[in-house]
Amino acid sequence: MELEFDYSHMMADAVGQEQGVSNVELEVAADRCKEIHARIMARRGRGELPFFDLPFAEEEIGKTLRLAERVKQRFENVVVLGIGGSALGTKAIMSALRPSWHNMVASEQRGGLPRLFVLDNVDPDYFAENLDLLDPEQTCFLVISKSGSTVETASQFLAARAWLVADSDRDYREHFILITDPEQGSLRELADREQIVSCEIPAGVGGRFTVFTPVSLLPLACAGVDIVGLVKGAASMMPHVCHDDLLTNPAYLNAVLQYLAYGKGASISVMMPYSNRLFGLSDWFRQLWAESLGKKYALDGSVCHVGPTPVNALGTTDQHSQVQLYMEGPFDKLVTFITVRRFERDFSMGAYSDMPALQYLEGHTMSELISAEQRATAAALARNRRPNATFVLPDVSPTSVGALLYLLQVQTLFAGDLFEVNPLDQPGVEEGKSFTYALMGRDGYAEKKKEFDQLQEKVPCRSLSVAVSPS
Ligand code: PA5
Repeated sequence: MELEFDYSHMMADAVGQEQGVSNVELEVAADRCKEIHARIMARRGRGELPFFDLPFAEEEIGKTLRLAERVKQRFENVVVLGIGGSALGTKAIMSALRPSWHNMVASEQRGGLPRLFVLDNVDPDYFAENLDLLDPEQTCFLVISKSGSTVETASQFLAARAWLVADSDRDYREHFILITDPEQGSLRELADREQIVSCEIPAGVGGRFTVFTPVSLLPLACAGVDIVGLVKGAASMMPHVCHDDLLTNPAYLNAVLQYLAYGKGASISVMMPYSNRLFGLSDWFRQLWAESLGKKYALDGSVCHVGPTPVNALGTTDQHSQVQLYMEGPFDKLVTFITVRRFERDFSMGAYSDMPALQYLEGHTMSELISAEQRATAAALARNRRPNATFVLPDVSPTSVGALLYLLQVQTLFAGDLFEVNPLDQPGVEEGKSFTYALMGRDGYAEKKKEFDQLQEKVPCRSLSVAVSPS
């Protein structure tokens, strides 16, 4: 079982000097790689980067499995209330490793496993439509927030609590599990005060690096995902991405290639899986790459405004939507494909011998076609001087998915050093959060509200309304 990283089309000999990376640039980067690696490992040694060791936390994983068993015995529905890093990993892995029909079929057809819903928004229609499907008596909410104060998650918790007690005087506490910081925040306070079952997100592990903690592992285990296989996959990737030889470390190498291509104008990084099951993974990565690398301040405090813009697309679907732009539009993109060597199932094309437009497909399989289309797109992009690289997974299994997630986390951490920014913080989202608290009347935010009003006053209002009514 091998996970391959093919970067042929990132290089100057494939896409030209202007867009491509040269061997000399890689040689120079190899030296820098050793320095960065030493720094990262020193930080890991000091316990500053605990996410590296999460796949080896056997005791924690055992606890998660035992709690999941209890949930599975008692409930038919598990609902994640959380957002960003508290939701995206779960969505990505669920769609990769459980069939897309998991929630749609009767309990017997999914082996008695609970349905899993991840509600990562405060759109009231969306929230209501999902709750409409659920019997409160049979529903367990996993409220997930590292900080314990995220407004979306807090409001979902309050709405869900009201929904649980609307039709009976049931003890709502039995329908919640809180997953949060071991010591701080209002969710922790709530867990302690109301004796609600809780799990800990290890200290020092921020939202988008929590995929191997109960944040994702608990809901996924409840829905029947093989979380042991997943973490074993991650653990098996560790030695391959924790050494300083650039050319044999796929995480560091891809970080370097992405960084060098960014310097040549490829400010948009497209991730394009050729697998519906892996599309969610590209959503997860979009957050990881954007929040980790998009920064105003460099590590030395200077203003830098850097960061590649991650975009995701699905092969082959988006060949008929986005690829025209990638092929002929501005030279501001690079594409990372994810392909699968062996699909779980396949279809063989039947004969239709008297129509040439169909006949050439006879005897071929659908997996052959999706693979041919990806290789064709990659080659055509390269010919048009568009850099692209490909991760080839042996299959879509817990092991492969766990391994790729781990690799991409290490890649992101390493890229932080290349871009000279802190990949573990997200100060840019704080201002919007404070204004939201101010607008929602939170105590202590009166000054922020004034600031908001002043800002509004400064901006001349230019808005236009037109009537929309049935004719
Ligand atoms: O990666 C991150 O840190 C963020 O995306 C958070 O996960 C997100 O903002 C939600 O935060 P919290 O888990 O504190 O509710």
